[in-house]
Amino acid sequence: MQYQKITPIFLEKIKAIVGADAVFTDEETLINYNHDETEDLKYNPEVVVKPKNAQEISGLLKLCNEAMVPLTPRGGGTGLSGGALPVFGGVLLSMEKFKAILSIDTENLQATVEPGVITEEFINAVAAHGLLYPVDPSSKGSCFIGGNVAHGSGGPRVVKYGTIREYILNLEVVLPTGEVIWTGANTLKYASGYNLTQLMIGSEGTLGVVTKIVTKLVPKSQHSVLMLGSFAENESACAAVSAIFRAGVTPSALEFMERRGVEWVIRFDDIKFDLKDGVNAFLMIEFDGDDLDVIFKDCERVNAVLEAQGCTEVLFADTAQQKEELWRMRRTMAESVKSNSVYKEEDTVVPRAALPKLINGIKEIGGRYGFESVCYGHAGDGNLHVNIIKAGMSDEDWKNKLKDGIKEIFELTSALGGTISGEHGIGLVQKEFMPIKYSEVHLNLMRSIKQAFDPQGILNPGKIF
Ligand code: LAC
Ligand code: ZN
Repeated sequence: MQYQKITPIFLEKIKAIVGADAVFTDEETLINYNHDETEDLKYNPEVVVKPKNAQEISGLLKLCNEAMVPLTPRGGGTGLSGGALPVFGGVLLSMEKFKAILSIDTENLQATVEPGVITEEFINAVAAHGLLYPVDPSSKGSCFIGGNVAHGSGGPRVVKYGTIREYILNLEVVLPTGEVIWTGANTLKYASGYNLTQLMIGSEGTLGVVTKIVTKLVPKSQHSVLMLGSFAENESACAAVSAIFRAGVTPSALEFMERRGVEWVIRFDDIKFDLKDGVNAFLMIEFDGDDLDVIFKDCERVNAVLEAQGCTEVLFADTAQQKEELWRMRRTMAESVKSNSVYKEEDTVVPRAALPKLINGIKEIGGRYGFESVCYGHAGDGNLHVNIIKAGMSDEDWKNKLKDGIKEIFELTSALGGTISGEHGIGLVQKEFMPIKYSEVHLNLMRSIKQAFDPQGILNPGKIF
């Protein structure tokens, strides 16, 4: 695609649509919006625009579409695959003014929100009505719900409640050509042609700009119990995961953490935790519900499974504070690794019984290439985040050979029946690995869908494929 640069005349046209006070070209703003949380990648946009409603976005997209100017939508900027990076410059469309929770419908258990609402604020707002919106990625304190839609986000509660795909009923979307549509209906069932709502979820801002979101809600449980199982080996912890489900229980979270990850959060995040010798892996297992007797029975069943799988110790978090501290340990792991090492983050997912083979394979590949890794993640979903650490790898090998190692990790993931991202998306940094999992026929279908929505290719170009 031959994209056009933004001229002073074009800038005036943008200002005529959104108002001069919503248009920024100063160096400081461009730098603030030139990165997300993906490694240290930076691409300056030519202009940052902060519209306040769908009509303004429609006008902006029409303008860009006619002039062949690329436009990159951006939520909270917490993405881990470079989805919000304006790789061709152009317009950076920040959704930060879309901050309203428009309605919480306690009769239908639905809510309508704007995409710039911070996920945690929405969770808290529905909790005040005794309701649960269970999609809570580790970045919940700063990510936008619109970004979560764009990435098909998950988080720890997916194992019981499902990903965001299960909670989005309907979306208002501005198409790259400027038309505004609703993708579906505010209903729990939908058998009315192609499901454009589901197509939009996980499309990483390449098909349209979401301007309103209708979510499903569920009643919030009254109680939760959190247990922590210690293991001498990664492999036995990972093997215990599928055994837990085979025992007939469904935890509300089942997270894996490698010793190294725990060491780093203790060291860098001021978390108090007694890390014992000989313990190399942990499973964090949570049950929620309204009946404590039922929860404790589930805990007993899991306890028996954990023992049989070689778990050396099971701790129960007794107080709200202990629970909070354990969750903080798990949720700050990514930040901790990121701020303390040269790293590369991958997001693997396999059918959960394949987790032991996945983690052993990752370590074996690392051994051959000379990199180390800190693994943690949503084991109950078979979803392992692999933070690759430079360790003893030379600068040259890190630059030239690491890619081959990552490719091997994804080949393994694919061979085990998995795929190359569970929840962080493809964005910019994983797109070169798409052919490992998807044939040219498959990728061409995706390209045709993109073409149907965005014939000029102006919306978030350079992402996914
Ligand atoms: C987490 C993010 C990195 O699970 O997905 O902490
Ligand atoms: Zn995660």
